[in-house]
Amino acid sequence: MAAGRIRVTVGVCGGIAAYKSVELVRLLQDAGYDPHVVMTKAAEEFVRPLTFAAISGHKVITTLWGEEAGTGSEDDGSGEHSSVEHIQAAQSTKLLIVAPATANMLAKFAHGLADDFLSTMFLATTAPVIVAPAMNVNMWEHAAVQANVATLRARGVRVIEPGSGYLACGMVGGGRLAEPATVAAAVAAALAEGLVAGGDLAGTTVLVTAGGTREPVDPVRFIGNRSSGRMGYAVAEAAKRRGARVILVSAPTGLACPVGVEMVQVVSADEMRRAVMERLKESTVVVMAAAVSDYRVKSVAAQKIKREATKALTLELEATEDILSEVAAARVKGTVVVGFAAETEDAVANGRGKLVRKGVDAVVVNDVSAEGIGFDSAENAGSFLTRDGEVEFPVMSKAAMADRILDEVIKLRG
Ligand code: CTP
Repeated sequence: MAAGRIRVTVGVCGGIAAYKSVELVRLLQDAGYDPHVVMTKAAEEFVRPLTFAAISGHKVITTLWGEEAGTGSEDDGSGEHSSVEHIQAAQSTKLLIVAPATANMLAKFAHGLADDFLSTMFLATTAPVIVAPAMNVNMWEHAAVQANVATLRARGVRVIEPGSGYLACGMVGGGRLAEPATVAAAVAAALAEGLVAGGDLAGTTVLVTAGGTREPVDPVRFIGNRSSGRMGYAVAEAAKRRGARVILVSAPTGLACPVGVEMVQVVSADEMRRAVMERLKESTVVVMAAAVSDYRVKSVAAQKIKREATKALTLELEATEDILSEVAAARVKGTVVVGFAAETEDAVANGRGKLVRKGVDAVVVNDVSAEGIGFDSAENAGSFLTRDGEVEFPVMSKAAMADRILDEVIKLRG
């Protein structure tokens, strides 16, 4: 797994909702974590370990004892294949998420029983633990289950409340496993709070710009661009996860601010420029992923331009300031500055031109004319250009690309 990936363990118990954990593991993988899966015997009745092994890329732990331990397509070479495997797994994981957590497993956790891998690992780990219960509504509401949940809460275990709705048993009510996206967000939030001291970007302040700026034409219209902001938000999220203090200067997007990130919202190129320049001194890394408008309307109409009164309209545009060049020129020595170049032709040559012209340390180029990557898509591909080299990024999720960019930034910081 790539450097900087945080190892999390997903414990899967036996319940109809076990299939949702497949999606959870995929979401954690996409978000840049390194998920390892532990299954109970009963869970194997619902989903095959091979499914989790294929998605996580690691063997799946299914039993405490020798031979059978670790079922999957690949041994990850960690040497975890012994009766003390649970101790090694417990020590190397940064978080344990149990989803679905059955009434039986909650009882074992609450009372300290250790008769399978998951319950033994629970006792052996000092990492934060989150449980996402799923069961029949009467079971969930039973005083015994609620008492166990209260005990676990009192000991610091986080509980993701089950949702309401149709249950597999045909009843309607509480007890449904929370949606995988909700569980994945809880994992990210817990890690953002607890892990910042240990990441490979600890001690750095990363300033990220994201989104497409908007230049007003009149009070209701603007000139904008197709940037979704996803790439910049992914960089902000990854930098936070890896221990940095993160400032995200964002033009309008439909995205939620990543947990723990300081967000500064701006609209126009000029507002973005001011927000960035004000915070430049405190930043050790600047990643300019925003699609900044190159032009603004020279005289913005004070009132809405009326169609009846204006049969033909010519807008006079003037150039905006190039924020990236200004940042590169004004930076404190040692600050790493990375720009983006969205190109539709001769991507690498144009990117190299920008690298030199703007005086930055690196440029991430992508060919936005290619189908399925770049603007408004979940995936990206491109090249990371520096003065002395070039690293190719094949098609991957924007979250994965964010980590690759940060890996290269760390090398540049030396
Ligand atoms: N950029 C900037 N300020 C601007 C325009 C762009 O800081 N006014 C930054 C972007 O955030 C990006 C990089 O410069 O990191 C390259 O942006 P791009 O639009 O590809 O380049 P331009 O300089 O606009 O060049 P061109 O339009 O000729 O491709």
